Amino acid sequence: LAEKFSESYFRGLARPCVRDFKEYDAGPMPGEQFVLASANENSAEVPRCILEAVLKAAAEGNRYGEGSCLKLRERIAALHGLEPEAIMTGTGLDGVFTILGRAFLEPDDEVLFGEMTFSAYRDTAILSGASPVAVPMRDNLSLDSGGFIRAATDRTKMVFFCNPNNPTGSAAELSEIREMLDSLPKETIFVLDEAYIDFAEPPYESGIPLLGEYPNLVICRTFSKIYGLAGFRLGYAAAAPELIKYAAKAREVYCVSAIAAAAAEAALANTEFLRKSRETAIGERAKMAAFFDGIEVKHYPTQGNFILIELDNAREVRDRLLKHGIAVRLLTFRGKERYLRISAGQPPENRFIEREIRDILGKKKG
Ligand SMILES: Cc1ncc(COP(=O)(O)O)c(C=O)c1O
Repeated sequence: LAEKFSESYFRGLARPCVRDFKEYDAGPMPGEQFVLASANENSAEVPRCILEAVLKAAAEGNRYGEGSCLKLRERIAALHGLEPEAIMTGTGLDGVFTILGRAFLEPDDEVLFGEMTFSAYRDTAILSGASPVAVPMRDNLSLDSGGFIRAATDRTKMVFFCNPNNPTGSAAELSEIREMLDSLPKETIFVLDEAYIDFAEPPYESGIPLLGEYPNLVICRTFSKIYGLAGFRLGYAAAAPELIKYAAKAREVYCVSAIAAAAAEAALANTEFLRKSRETAIGERAKMAAFFDGIEVKHYPTQGNFILIELDNAREVRDRLLKHGIAVRLLTFRGKERYLRISAGQPPENRFIEREIRDILGKKKG
């Protein structure tokens, strides 16, 4: 079919914001025998209790199920001390951002996000027809809360603040979040993406307690990271029930499968798995940081389940790791392709990655 019709015909059909849109590229994947350290997943195996819950839900797969995931929302709400009406689920956080864009963004609006942050924020802005505005990072590659305040205009409709930030690993204290919320107009929806908050250590903490004070605050969480359910595609937003009411109007009714919801319900109860995942990520990121110190590779302090390193030959290292069955994420910042983001997986995976990097860089054993 590919050559039967002219490309310009189809280009004309697409919305202008879609025509030159560059889709998300997860990067190359290794062939067999691989270690996936490129997507900040939880590399622990899916626990048996989840598989059992999934099988049970699958047996009722001929039914749509309850579209709003009420049972799951009740459990999430109880976890945060909120009411179920304050929670909306989506097909991963990617799906939640799409819903927020559909519900709140219009072509004249501006959307703020960090210069080096999760790419979906820009995509949400562009595909909503709104204008993306990147806020410069601080020199240490952390998100600049003051910069967000200065970048806001009367057209700023949405702000995405990633805490801890992917891919740099930096985190902001609640006082900084508060400062932004106090300075930005109430008509600006402040999306606080806490995909990695479960891996953060004090003084960094969740903004959930701020929900009662700020009607424009939306907190986003996902089951893809600490819960280890990335392939199930489940994320949620927590906000004032009235805001959620309008967001949910733009939600596809059955966008979260009953099977994914059942998996998430079981995952919420599996506190031992969560405790272990947190402990592993915190311990492993520290070990990886010490390893990079030992071989004199620049890295950034991280509160996530990943670490960002800086190298002159980042692409070459990425490619050579790939040949050895390891996927890491290559990143460009201000035109410089000098960064690799490496997810902290299980200890044997991390030691394997470290050995390979040390060999590629020709460093001696530390
Ligand atoms: C900061 C951040 N937010 C959201 C997501 C997307 O999560 P989900 O798998 O729930 O779509 C990711 C995924 O890597 C992320 O890093």
